[in-house]
Amino acid sequence: MSARVNLLAPEVLANPYPVFAELRRDAPICQVEPGGLWAVSRYADIMNVLKNPQLFSSEGMARSMEPAWLGYNPVARSMLVMDPPRHGRARSLISRAFTPTTIAQLEPFLRATAERLVDELLARRDADFLQSLALPLPAAAIGHLMGLDASLYSRFKHWSDHVAVVSAISATDIEKQQQVQRSLQEMEGYLKEVLEHRRREPGDDLVSGLLTARVDGEALSDAELMSFLFLLLVAGLETTVNLLGNGALLLADRPDLLERLRAEPELIPSFIEEVLRYESPAQAGFRLTTAEAEVGGVKLPKYSVLILLLGSACRDEQYVPDAERFVLGRKDPANLPFGHGIHFCLGAPLARLEARVTLEALLPRIRSLSRTPEAPRWHPSLQIRGLMSLPVRVEPA
Ligand code: HEM
Repeated sequence: MSARVNLLAPEVLANPYPVFAELRRDAPICQVEPGGLWAVSRYADIMNVLKNPQLFSSEGMARSMEPAWLGYNPVARSMLVMDPPRHGRARSLISRAFTPTTIAQLEPFLRATAERLVDELLARRDADFLQSLALPLPAAAIGHLMGLDASLYSRFKHWSDHVAVVSAISATDIEKQQQVQRSLQEMEGYLKEVLEHRRREPGDDLVSGLLTARVDGEALSDAELMSFLFLLLVAGLETTVNLLGNGALLLADRPDLLERLRAEPELIPSFIEEVLRYESPAQAGFRLTTAEAEVGGVKLPKYSVLILLLGSACRDEQYVPDAERFVLGRKDPANLPFGHGIHFCLGAPLARLEARVTLEALLPRIRSLSRTPEAPRWHPSLQIRGLMSLPVRVEPA
């Protein structure tokens, strides 16, 4: 490959997989646009980086999330951007409140929410799948988990969209900066109230659990709590919406899959794993080298910024055989879409549960799901693979 690949070029956003295949074959470690990031595209190299957080730091990325025009950004202080030993302490405190039991208890609420949303979708027949199902379900899940006011759910996505794009906003785009600042302030103000309320009147929600969690007698500080709640909102929404949206796109384009899942609903979990792998909602992670480092035989200077192309690793034959094909019923769950090592996604069981409950509510009720013939428009993002919208028509069963 001669010229630098631009990961945000329209043709790459439309279909990054041929470019990823070329990178894996010809230039597995190389600089790409934007920004001359070092792209790592092979499964084995990405795994090596993720297993070595001392040399490939997440904390090093925090600065790009707190540009001068913004100053304080709680997500930049969250465990996602911490290295050991700080990361271990925060993660172990938070894991105590974010247990499999807490998640399993959500199922009846999620099922009732999904049934209601499917009723509404069927009443309309023509709708944007993202706005009518893929977005409101995870928003309700996070809101319920945190014990938040349901009237705010529609604002979550707005807030989290703004917080998620901080590092991509240019120093001269004052209007966008002001929007982001407003969202951040609004979100912080609201979450402060929630913390105070739960302190006075603890319930059995996640926030109350976080307030009482202790490691060696030590609690989370207010700043740590705030960072985690921000992270939860962003990490829990931006990805799961796209798992549901990317899955629906596949079902619209492959009626045979829809039919098979309707006939054999026990295949739903395997469908979800394959969507996660084949059209991975989290396409990339970032790391900073803390010293000169070698990746895949290439020497990288200290302070190189790496973009780990998870979406590419998920299509690597070293990861699974026949990797460019969507195969329903693969044996092993595709865990890599949730990362690997110390930062492995804390919300993986929740995301899987949300997707399963949604499909179990939707599939028995619809005969077909079709979409308009235009090419889908994907978010211009390095990190997220997701549609801007997905207009669909559903026919009831
Ligand atoms: C399909 C949905 C999801 C995908 C594909 C996904 C993917 C990921 C990935 C790849 C990471 C690792 C990032 C890194 O190593 O830099 C991660 C971390 C994380 N995710 Fe998820 N995620 C999803 C849903 C969720 C949900 C629903 C939540 C919570 C409600 C969540 C919470 C987190 C948290 C807290 C971390 C940071 C863990 C740490 O730093 O130790 N995620 N996620």
